[in-house]
Amino acid sequence: MAANPIELNPYASLSDEECRERILAAKQALGERLVILGHHYQRDEVFEHADFSGDSLKLSREAAQSNAEFIVFCGVHFMAEVADILSRPDQVAILPDLSAGCSMADMADLDKVQRAWDELSQVLDPEQNITPVTYINSDANLKAFCGDHGGVVCTSTNARRILEWSFEQRDKVLFFPDQHLGRNTGAKMGIPLEQMVVWDYDQPMGGLSEQQIRDARIILWKGFCSVHQMFKPAQIEKFRAEHPEGKVISHPESSFEVCQASDFVGSTEYIIQTIRESEPGTHWLVGTELNLVNRLHNEMKPEGKTVQFMSPTVCMCSTMFRIDPQHLAWTLENLVEGHVVNRIEVPEATADSARVALDRMLEISR
Ligand code: 13P
Ligand code: SF4
Repeated sequence: MAANPIELNPYASLSDEECRERILAAKQALGERLVILGHHYQRDEVFEHADFSGDSLKLSREAAQSNAEFIVFCGVHFMAEVADILSRPDQVAILPDLSAGCSMADMADLDKVQRAWDELSQVLDPEQNITPVTYINSDANLKAFCGDHGGVVCTSTNARRILEWSFEQRDKVLFFPDQHLGRNTGAKMGIPLEQMVVWDYDQPMGGLSEQQIRDARIILWKGFCSVHQMFKPAQIEKFRAEHPEGKVISHPESSFEVCQASDFVGSTEYIIQTIRESEPGTHWLVGTELNLVNRLHNEMKPEGKTVQFMSPTVCMCSTMFRIDPQHLAWTLENLVEGHVVNRIEVPEATADSARVALDRMLEISR
């Protein structure tokens, strides 16, 4: 065993193919001690090494059920945090590149959410009137906030069921950080747009009047995904004009207008299943991250299905893209040598409260 962790620098000069060989060898050496979880937005050269792939909900469940000593998460920071929170204390969650964050998750932090909660208490009693709901794309301490205040976590798969549960608890919801998932889900439940107000965290009182807060059913945090905001209704109109028989499917982090103009809306896993189950010859326009759309395009080609990316410009999730074969090879070879690098460890008190909100979610969406 090397005395110190192996340094990352030399890996930068390895080719993807060299990394591939070394990743496969390290996986073989680690055997059942290791599980690699891969989100659908990962690049192909990383995704191929995942033992389990999925959307955020599916991967949370895999993390909770895994027996492996090392859970290497090829995804972004909040996903590895969830793996740490839901796994046993003797298991280790690892993110191959610590700079793989989520720009949407960064749009809400505990100070801002606590300030919103305090300001809302000038108008009503949040503990009695508001269920806080955090999208899983958020820091562990926001999940902890929800756990401590009778709230819950949701993913793009279970958002509707989670909101239904939340309204059974209290008559309003504070939804963060993604306004679009909140609005799209609320609209599907029949909540009028004017009852879903946006909380601008840079403004006193969220930029809302007392009346707007009293009348609101959902208070939406002013957060968004930089990838999904690139999709526009005009791109759908153009596609429909060129392919009148074509189908449009979008992720619910896309805008309300895009989701309204789509034939189907759902999580990454839902998008994959829906396209796989479609008739041969179907032409699809897809509003989600480019790596997934390209993979679907290649997979569906032999079946005569066409899968087209919604935006004319390249927009991939730059933080998901940080996980590359070089970082994965470095991570795994360190594990083989007995060194844990890039461990994600949520402080115990935060993890305990966050687990309350995550367990609620898993129970509600069973
Ligand atoms: P899914 O849970 O649908 O995979 O979405 C995760 C995500 O970050 C989408 O941007
Ligand atoms: Fe975050 Fe958007 Fe990337 Fe998903 S696609 S991880 S929401 S930045």
